[in-house]
Amino acid sequence: QTRIYLAGLSGVMPALPVDFATLEARAAAALPPSVLSYVQGGCGDEHTQDDNVAAFGRWGMVPRMLVDTAKRDLSVTLFGADLPSPLFMAPIGVTGLMTQDGHGDLAAARAAAETGVPLCASTLASDPLEDVRAACGDTPAFFQLYTPRDRGLAESLIARAEAAGYAAIVVTLDTWVTGWRPRDLNASNFPQLRGHVLTNYLVDPRFRAMLGHPPEQDMRAAVGLWAGTFGKVLVWEDIAWLRSVTRLPIVLKGICHPDDARRAIDEGADAVYCSNHGGRQANGGIAAIDMLPGVVASVDGRVPVLFDSGIRSGTDIVKALALGATAVGVGRPYSYGLALGGAAGCAHVLRCLLAEADLLMAVNGLPTLADVRAAGAVPR
Ligand code: FNR
Repeated sequence: QTRIYLAGLSGVMPALPVDFATLEARAAAALPPSVLSYVQGGCGDEHTQDDNVAAFGRWGMVPRMLVDTAKRDLSVTLFGADLPSPLFMAPIGVTGLMTQDGHGDLAAARAAAETGVPLCASTLASDPLEDVRAACGDTPAFFQLYTPRDRGLAESLIARAEAAGYAAIVVTLDTWVTGWRPRDLNASNFPQLRGHVLTNYLVDPRFRAMLGHPPEQDMRAAVGLWAGTFGKVLVWEDIAWLRSVTRLPIVLKGICHPDDARRAIDEGADAVYCSNHGGRQANGGIAAIDMLPGVVASVDGRVPVLFDSGIRSGTDIVKALALGATAVGVGRPYSYGLALGGAAGCAHVLRCLLAEADLLMAVNGLPTLADVRAAGAVPR
């Protein structure tokens, strides 16, 4: 924050915009249209996606005065790790499309190493999960699982994540099938995406055994096997199986209903992740931030509550924390940072988000996250 301000005061133009709207406009001008539609697009007429963002404007915070906020503490402990802030990078598949060298996940991982902001690496990452974990350096990382229909393949991915040193397994519940995404469908985007989704599978021993021949010999067959095994329809009974195959904390991503949050804990989840996938999976829903308070009330402090969908600024981060989130993820913002500036662009976006959150805590009289939580936010 100090660095960004000092540069501004001495007349140095930032290399990239410091706000989301300008950043997105720049990314829109820079990215090929099909890649832009993949990143920016959502489900159906995108009503839910748009409302994810708009809903933050319907929550407000009341500043407190005469509090010493000269020092702020944004640190948080998550899955046994001490983190400098509650911000993390939500899992984004196929980030290789966004960077010029095709290694978007390594770039995001380097930004994680540089900023201390954890990356949740997607199953559909464009770089193997082992390399991504290594590039994160001392910053903890999480592995996001799209559970394959083949249990052996799922267990292989989990075992690899465990061996690589990931701190948690984030199981995405809302995407065993892809939502109705008109922008991708109209652009006929799927062959292009498919070229990037196989990275973690091609190096997987179980996947290679299932294929029966080196993937390079027949990539069409590899793509077919991937598509055929992609999404398991998970039901509550599967959580016990997941629990039995890993000692890592299990985070359930996509929990929005208070009853599901309660059941998730009953079934052994170590954290609940309230998200509607940035509005990409189901349209016709309620803004994610409006569902957070119900999830938080139902969890009642028993496990951490992660949140994403619609965060565009440091102000949004503080509002989500005020409404009870333990940690807050962003998707599009860091994707645009990657697109415009690789690892450095990604780190820039993360630093701007944190600088704004930190300053807001300073001027609102809230020196710690406990103070933010206690202050809460009010509907307007
Ligand atoms: C995603 N998201 C996602 N989620 C997941 O669990 N696995 C994945 O591979 C992906 N891939 C993905 C690609 C792209 C281009 C986007 C934009 C999103 C969803 C992501 O983790 C997160 O839930 C949303 O991005 C959060 O919403 P915002 O911050 O983009 O509004």
